[in-house]
Amino acid sequence: WDSLVENVISATHSATKIYSHAETPQLVSLDAIDTQDLPRIFSGIGEWDRVVGGGLVPESLVVITGDPGIGKSTLLLQVAYEIAKTKRVFYFSTEESLQQLKGRALRLRSSLTNPSSTRPECSPKENVSKGLLFSDAAELTSMIAATRTEKPDIIIIDSIQNCYINDSATLPGSVSQLREAAFQLMRLSKEHNITVIITGHITKEGIIAGPKTLEHMVDAVFYLQGEDRWQTRILRAVKNRFGAINELGFFSMEHNGLQEVPNINAHLLSEMSHAPGSAIISIMEGSRPILLELQALTNASKLTMPQRVVSGLDHKQVVLIAAILEKYVKIKLSMQDIFFKVSGGFKITGAESDLGTAFALLSSYFQEPLPEKSIALGEISLTGQIKPINNIGHLVKEAEKFGITTLLVAKNQVIEKTSCTIKRFHNVYELLSLFGQ
Ligand code: TYD
Ligand code: MG
Repeated sequence: WDSLVENVISATHSATKIYSHAETPQLVSLDAIDTQDLPRIFSGIGEWDRVVGGGLVPESLVVITGDPGIGKSTLLLQVAYEIAKTKRVFYFSTEESLQQLKGRALRLRSSLTNPSSTRPECSPKENVSKGLLFSDAAELTSMIAATRTEKPDIIIIDSIQNCYINDSATLPGSVSQLREAAFQLMRLSKEHNITVIITGHITKEGIIAGPKTLEHMVDAVFYLQGEDRWQTRILRAVKNRFGAINELGFFSMEHNGLQEVPNINAHLLSEMSHAPGSAIISIMEGSRPILLELQALTNASKLTMPQRVVSGLDHKQVVLIAAILEKYVKIKLSMQDIFFKVSGGFKITGAESDLGTAFALLSSYFQEPLPEKSIALGEISLTGQIKPINNIGHLVKEAEKFGITTLLVAKNQVIEKTSCTIKRFHNVYELLSLFGQ
């Protein structure tokens, strides 16, 4: 039934052979290691350059992964085009034919020739067409051979899953072949100073299709994630040997490709409402503070087991805050259906959103909005105390920039400089004061 696959191990791959020829490794001290800082490769696409850690590092192997159709090929074509203004880029499209690629490039044309590009020094189109070359070859050994002879600065392989290796002991499409491919590309990049960017698919669970096995081998892994409501695409660094992780870049998918959204907070705030059940919080995503709106709806339940429908946050976190409020504020949230969401499709993991969650629930319960332009920053302990959060300085500074005027924080929260009104709370019971209770 095809459940067993014969895997022939050729003699050259046998372990004994590898080890019998091993040389004694040379050991050196840190001082003896020569370092040279290779200049980073900038694309001029600000969100991309920041997420990759301040430009791409020469001789690195980078993976971009994400759901099918999310925009990986589009992003890479745009990046390739920008970089090709000063560097030589090879683009191996193993999934799409050259005609399809041309079709995409035509679609992107208006943004590719974008005069607002931040790199005025190199606009002539002829340079780009020379610097950026395409191929639809899918055999890895030949790609590597071409790269070794031509020595471009960057090669892009879109996607690695569609590559195969001739004369390999591993099966095309298998995880072991994927590993072998990654290994060969790693050596190519280190030996020839070439940046190699590959794309890979993930399944819904992010496990089978391979990139997870690649994550260990490569220098950097970036996820391109989507969010349905506003065509927003988030580029997230999950591993980066040359930069910060959890750095986020924002793009929106337009008819002419991915456009940067450098001012995501303005974008997010424009969508926020000042209504009962809404609370604004701020969290750090990488090096950047993000303003988010929490929305709660509580309604007297007609069910014996009231509903808890939560998205964007661990539902246990909301249940926990509701339990704390019930215990210490004496409101009967256990008789209420609770619907809770985070605007903009973001996922929150930390406890910094506790106070905002409590305010959103109370505000919906009492049907009273929070003070206008206020932001809640605090954790809540199981005993109902409001706890200060770390790094509040960045959050406050960003919030002020976007017109926030009131800070709702813990009693002992230290805030160095702010022009905002500060309202302090010692425990959850004191939160009621905002609702005229
Ligand atoms: P693509 O880059 O092919 O995704 P991936 O390589 O991750 O599979 O993106 C394809 C999607 O993007 C497709 O659904 C159409 C959409 N798209 C736009 O909305 N605008 C554009 O300008 C382009 C090129 C694609
Ligand atoms: Mg693609």
